Amino acid sequence: MKNLLLLSLILLISCGPQERVSKEAFDVVQQNNEVKRITEVAILEEAMVWGDSITQEAQAQLTAQLQEAIAANGPAGALDFCKVNALPLLKSLESKHAVTLRRVSSQPRNPADAPNSQEIPLLDAYAYNAENNILADPSIQKIEGGEVLLYTKPILMANALCLSCHGDPKKDIAPETAAKLKQLYPQDPATGYALGDLRGMWALRLPKKEVVKRL
Ligand code: HEC
Repeated sequence: MKNLLLLSLILLISCGPQERVSKEAFDVVQQNNEVKRITEVAILEEAMVWGDSITQEAQAQLTAQLQEAIAANGPAGALDFCKVNALPLLKSLESKHAVTLRRVSSQPRNPADAPNSQEIPLLDAYAYNAENNILADPSIQKIEGGEVLLYTKPILMANALCLSCHGDPKKDIAPETAAKLKQLYPQDPATGYALGDLRGMWALRLPKKEVVKRL
């Protein structure tokens, strides 16, 4: 009787619990796979939502402050605002959201806005679409081994306001503004655009772990 009890105890320890553990482990693996599959898609969707919201916030702030500066000082006076404030405004959004936010252009007025090797192919694709009148949506690329999601969105010459500083130097840009542009940006390649042209793109780097935190 004592032996039998011992035997069943040994059996219970050696077989019973082990079996249960391996079944549990199996379930956990299955669950993780399931979670991972859902999460990859959910992460990309969330990155898109978050990217849209940050770039809209940035665009709204830039436009509001630009309009204010133009109303107060005219386009020529507002150039100082752009030169001094555009980047800091984006920097403050970067620290608020723990992301990296840039505007890049193949004809950058500010040399710091030239695209890097990760951004060039995306900007080229938007330029191709714009030339062929294909409406381009924002996109998301996995970079840095998937640890960072690069959200990009085209920036178009959306309205007549843009022309006063990026349009045809003979037609759209007032002489006073042109003179000031020459003084602030002697090499300025960022003119000659028409309404609807691609002016550049937003390049927003979202750390994957920050996106995951939002889910
Ligand atoms: C008052 C003049 C002014 C107006 C109006 C203006 N911009 Fe600009 N824009 C600038 C200046 C100056 C810079 C460079 C800012 C800097 O030095 O960081 C700039 C930079 C940019 C950049 C970053 C790439 C680059 O060339 O450095 C983009 C994109 C851009 N502007 C798009 C627009 C769009 C779109 C509009 C219309 C909604 C617009 N701008 C209206 C003056 C203007």
